[in-house]
Amino acid sequence: MGLFLITFLFVHLGINLLVLLPDTSAFNIAAHFMGTNPIIKVFEVVLFSGFIIHIIYGLTLQVQNWMARPNRYKIEGWSHSSPFSKFMIHTAVIIFIFLVIHLADFYFKAKFGHLEEVLINGEPYHDMAALVLAKFKIIGFVIGYIFIFIILGFHLHHGFQSAFQSFGLNNKTYTPIIKNVGTLIAFILAIGYIIIPVAIYFL
Ligand code: HEM
Repeated sequence: MGLFLITFLFVHLGINLLVLLPDTSAFNIAAHFMGTNPIIKVFEVVLFSGFIIHIIYGLTLQVQNWMARPNRYKIEGWSHSSPFSKFMIHTAVIIFIFLVIHLADFYFKAKFGHLEEVLINGEPYHDMAALVLAKFKIIGFVIGYIFIFIILGFHLHHGFQSAFQSFGLNNKTYTPIIKNVGTLIAFILAIGYIIIPVAIYFL
């Protein structure tokens, strides 16, 4: 399920990068397509169910971990697990809080709010781009989002690799490759997302 969510993150990043183009029509058309296309609507249900399954699965794992070792190690860092893996639940909680705020700011505004409209090829479209561009002119928003994308990078760094462990793919040849690919994906996504608020703020 984590891998499916990572795919969503790449698609979402691709669309969001369009907002940086001098002509924001492409972004508004893409946002409109995402909001109205029936196939995407089905995908959205799958996506939100995916988030819920992912959260329930993650919480179950965390509770099992706590129950397996009720007394925490006295010396932090004593276990040999990577520092990223130790903070999965913490980074997850932060990302969850972000998602609630993010959906209220963009998604629900797009769905139920009154957004300005622009004419593109004679057709009226919600000016989603104007909303995004206005938000990222606020420094607190920019810093908050950058913080989240770094946290997201940490979460994905360990999450990608552990998804493969869940499939039972854990051996001397594949594990290092999977770990490196996970690091690369986490890095690309974190940097890709960070570019958006930074570019909007400074340009
Ligand atoms: C600079 C970064 C981001 C921008 C500018 C942005 C912008 C938007 C906008 C405008 C929407 C509503 C309309 C649309 O679907 O196009 C949206 C929806 C959404 N965003 Fe983001 N987003 C960003 C990062 C993220 C991240 C990192 C996540 C996940 C951890 C995320 C998760 C979602 C979800 C789940 C939805 C609702 C489903 C959807 O419409 O695709 N977003 N975002």
